[in-house]
Amino acid sequence: MAPIIAPSMLSANFGKLEQEIEMINNSQADWIHLDIMDGVFVPNISYGFPVIKAMAKSAKKPLDAHLMIVDPDRYIAHFKELGTEYLSVHYEACIHLHRSIQLIKSLGMKAGVAINPHTPVHNLYEILPDVDFVLVMSVNPGFGGQSFIENSLTKISKLRKMIDDRSLKCLIQVDGGVNIKNAPALIQSGADILVAGNSVFGANDPLKAIAELKSL
Ligand code: DX5
Ligand code: ZN
Repeated sequence: MAPIIAPSMLSANFGKLEQEIEMINNSQADWIHLDIMDGVFVPNISYGFPVIKAMAKSAKKPLDAHLMIVDPDRYIAHFKELGTEYLSVHYEACIHLHRSIQLIKSLGMKAGVAINPHTPVHNLYEILPDVDFVLVMSVNPGFGGQSFIENSLTKISKLRKMIDDRSLKCLIQVDGGVNIKNAPALIQSGADILVAGNSVFGANDPLKAIAELKSL
């Protein structure tokens, strides 16, 4: 089955954000990936609610917000109000992860758990039946345009097996350094959703870059 493609707006040209969203609207992309950073959980700050609101106004595809923030429960309801459909929180940022996941789902959003490159997939064993997707970070979160960490392929294969062995429905999202060269192996290993920032917005023809990923 064709992968779900989620271009990451972090690599978009913020000087013409509305046109960038229009480009995604007219593309074969499935979701719009929003990277939310607080300067605490990750060493960078991205954008906040007024910018998300502006993007949500023009977006015709589902919003997929990736919260790289501490204590995300504080903002989960606000993301729902802004129209988010897919919301992921970090395993490493949630002391009561089960509660955070239930909160996301109780508000009618699909819930994801994100894991950093050093976090073993087996740590997700207990939460797996409760989540709609797992976001496997294939770079250390905080910045776009970094190099893909090869070990992510092994993690995705292991996770695929954990999901399939228990006949769970949970999807696997991969985020960081994804491009047309490593995407076939990622899909082969079991990834369902490809997040791509630099390889889409840095391409000469972003529409074509999205179409190529979608055709895999
Ligand atoms: C990194 C973010 C990613 C990033 C991906 O912290 O979570 O979504 O924007 O960008 P690329 O594809 O350029 O690595
Ligand atoms: Zn992300």
